[in-house]
Amino acid sequence: MDRLGAEKTTMKTSRIGKLIGVSLGPGDPGLITRRAWEVMQSDVHWAYPVRSRSSDSYALDIVQRAGLNMPKNYSPLLFPMTHDPEKLSIYWLEAAQTVLSVLQAGRDVAFLVEGDASTYSTFGHLARTLSALDAAIEVEVIPGVTSFNAAAASVGKPLADVDDTVVIVPAGYGIAMLERLLDDADTLILLKVKPLLNDIIDFLARRNLLAHSCFIEKTGAPEERIVHDVASLKGEKVNYLSLLIIKNPDRQRGEIARGCRKVVRVEEQ
Ligand SMILES: C[S@@+](CC[C@H](N)C(=O)[O-])C[C@H]1O[C@@H](n2cnc3c(N)ncnc32)[C@H](O)[C@@H]1O
Repeated sequence: MDRLGAEKTTMKTSRIGKLIGVSLGPGDPGLITRRAWEVMQSDVHWAYPVRSRSSDSYALDIVQRAGLNMPKNYSPLLFPMTHDPEKLSIYWLEAAQTVLSVLQAGRDVAFLVEGDASTYSTFGHLARTLSALDAAIEVEVIPGVTSFNAAAASVGKPLADVDDTVVIVPAGYGIAMLERLLDDADTLILLKVKPLLNDIIDFLARRNLLAHSCFIEKTGAPEERIVHDVASLKGEKVNYLSLLIIKNPDRQRGEIARGCRKVVRVEEQ
């Protein structure tokens, strides 16, 4: 091989792939964006999160229901359900190292994400850990429909009208935090409700909000469930993929002056 040929070979093999966070929406294949669809059909390596070595991936289920076949190259990445930061960082590192080796071989990696990749997603952990291993790696995010946007559409409740305030929060912050947030929220979206559902139901009953609340499980999936009688869920073990939309119709908002809400100072209350 001449010198030029050798250089060309070096240039070819030194291409580093990029990591693409591919948002797939919350479950209905019809909510996969055109951009995500194009990437999934290109010559990329698929990676997707699993909770354990034997569990299925919800993100993978969405693309399979959309009719896409598994590519030749794919990697399940283990993101177990634990709050132990030490354990988590070990799994994030392992996942990032797996992705890095594929990128270093010159192939792009599409990380499949349910919902939106920028919203409480494992993709954030993966991208951060990968950048810590190699800051030069390019990361692209394809935005998608979030679970709560799709859930609001399913139940026919607008998330926000006119100048409504919307608060989106993982329920794990606890009831005291929800009590505080509710005073400023016309719409409260609670994610990750499973472990605290009984306490949340008591809180909603205390604040007279049961009639204004709705529970949505696996929105967009064939098993989607909408429960308007939220109190009936007391004691039930619901799916992790579930959320609550709570409307707060009696919130004190302050008067409108020249298009802006009048600031209510503490001493005026
Ligand atoms: C780790 S967060 C992921 C959020 C997701 N990236 C999004 O854009 O909606 C997981 C929480 O999102 C909510 N969630 C995600 N997908 C859902 C679905 N299909 N139906 C109902 N809730 C869902 C649940 O509250 C779940 O506990």
